[in-house]
Parts: sequence; C-alpha cells; structure tokens
Amino acid sequence: MLVSAKEMLNKARDGKYAVGQFNINNLEWTKSVLAVAEELRSPVILGVSEGAGKYMTGFKTVVGMVNGMLEEMNITVPVALHLDHGTFEGAQKCIRAGFSSIMFDGSHYPIAENIEKTKILVNTCDVLGISIEAEVGSIGGEEDGVVGMGECADPKECKAIADLGVTMLAAGIGNIHGKYPANWPGLSFETLEAVKKEVGDMPLVLHGGTGIPAEMIKKAISLGVAKINVNTECQLSFADATRKYIEAGKDQQGKGFDPRKLLAPGAEAIKATVKEKMELFGSVGKA
Ligand code: 13P
Repeated sequence: MLVSAKEMLNKARDGKYAVGQFNINNLEWTKSVLAVAEELRSPVILGVSEGAGKYMTGFKTVVGMVNGMLEEMNITVPVALHLDHGTFEGAQKCIRAGFSSIMFDGSHYPIAENIEKTKILVNTCDVLGISIEAEVGSIGGEEDGVVGMGECADPKECKAIADLGVTMLAAGIGNIHGKYPANWPGLSFETLEAVKKEVGDMPLVLHGGTGIPAEMIKKAISLGVAKINVNTECQLSFADATRKYIEAGKDQQGKGFDPRKLLAPGAEAIKATVKEKMELFGSVGKA
C-alpha cells in the first residue's frame, strides 16, 4: 500500500539520512526502483512529473501500475507516490487519482500567491493524510520545458510557507536540474543553514540530485536535507546501456524483435544508479 512521505521523512531527518525520490517514466523505471528499494530495505519515493504522467496516459494509470506492482512484487518497504513540480490543477488531479504525496511548485508565483495556493492544498492533503511538498526559490535548469534561474530562497519566505503546515520544503540553494555546468559555484550551505534556522524541524528537499559531489550531499543531509530527488542520472544510465546494447547488435534476435530484451540493460543500469544513490543517501536498511 502506498504511504504518505511524512513518516519516512521525519525518520530520515531524525536519523540524519535522506530518502531518495527517483522519477519514473515507464514500467521498467518503476520496476527497477521498487526492486532495489525492497532489496536494500530502503524507503523510497517515486516521483512523477506532469509530463511523465501524461506520457503514461494519465495519473490514474500511474496509480494503477504502481499499486499493482506493490502487490505483485511483494513490496514491503514504505513507498510514496509523489507528484514532482506540480501545478495547482495537476496537484488536485493527482490527489483525486490516488497519489499518496504531492508537490505544489508555486515558486514562480509572487510569494503571496504561492502562500495562498499552497494553503488550499495543505488543507486538502491534511484531510486525506497525503504529504505535501512546497517550493521557495526556483531550482535552476530545465524541467518539463520550464527553465528556472536557480536563485537562492529567501529564508523568511521559507518560514512563511513552512508555517502553513507543509510536510517538506524544497528551498533553492543554487541547485540545478540536469547536469551541472563546469563553472557551477556549488550549493549555498549558507542559505541552507539560514533556511534551517527559520523552519526548524521541517524536512528539507534537495532537487537536482544528479551530479552533486558526494561530500556536498553528505553536508546537505547533516544540515537538514531529508529528501533528495534524482532524475537525470537514471535517464543517462538508461540511455547509455540501451545504446551500448544496440551498438553491439544484440537487439537483432533473428527471430523477431523482443522489446523486453531491448529494455532489460537499461532497467539494470537504473537499478545500479538507484543502489548507488541509496547507499550515498544513507537510506539502506532504514525501512
Ligand atoms: P535531476 O534531474 O538533476 O536529477 O533532478 C531531479 C529533480 O530534482 C526532480 O525534481
């Protein structure tokens, strides 16, 4: 059964580790993440962007697929199904479809509007026992066609949003979605510390988990980050393994084309990436 992310994140905050959010795009992705979480006894969050949800024909399909896998794969570790960077309308759709967690990304609105819209969703989520993530200070890079400038969050604005009763807060600290440019100055731990001071016990979320050096990840966790999002790295490992398989001519079966064989190396590569991240984040054995 899907669970809210609240308990797993509060435990992670107290235990000084982070739960990984791995974005899913299809059946293979989902199966790989769940298999590794179960094998390593790690709690996990499956992230779904609105674009990925649309690709999979809609949020209801995603809920049906994930619930089916939890049962058929005998998954016993805590799993949350979470909307990633949701719009106000998208968040409402996911709530209706059966997601156990949502993110409302109001970071591009003026702060008063972000507060107003987040508050409405907090009220709904509270009634239903769904966890909710809010964002302050946009994350750099590109996500689903939206380009953020990677500004650092204002700690006072973070407090205003945290006080609404969200479960977790994504605060921009110079992190970027996708690959980091060579001249990236690194995470602003100064901002992270200032945010933490304002929001107290609120579990913090670090987006753009691909390509952040291990030492920075560890420091961020020590300063209150309890959830780390990873998407691009799984995409890259999937693409790389698939390309190698095709280049080696292994997709030529001679007796018809088998999509399951073509997708298998990519699925294995995702497993390796997820494993590596869970070990780095310290969530192994914490289920
Ligand atoms: P990356 O694509 O950089 O791993 O970031 C993922 C993310 O933050 C999803 O919200």
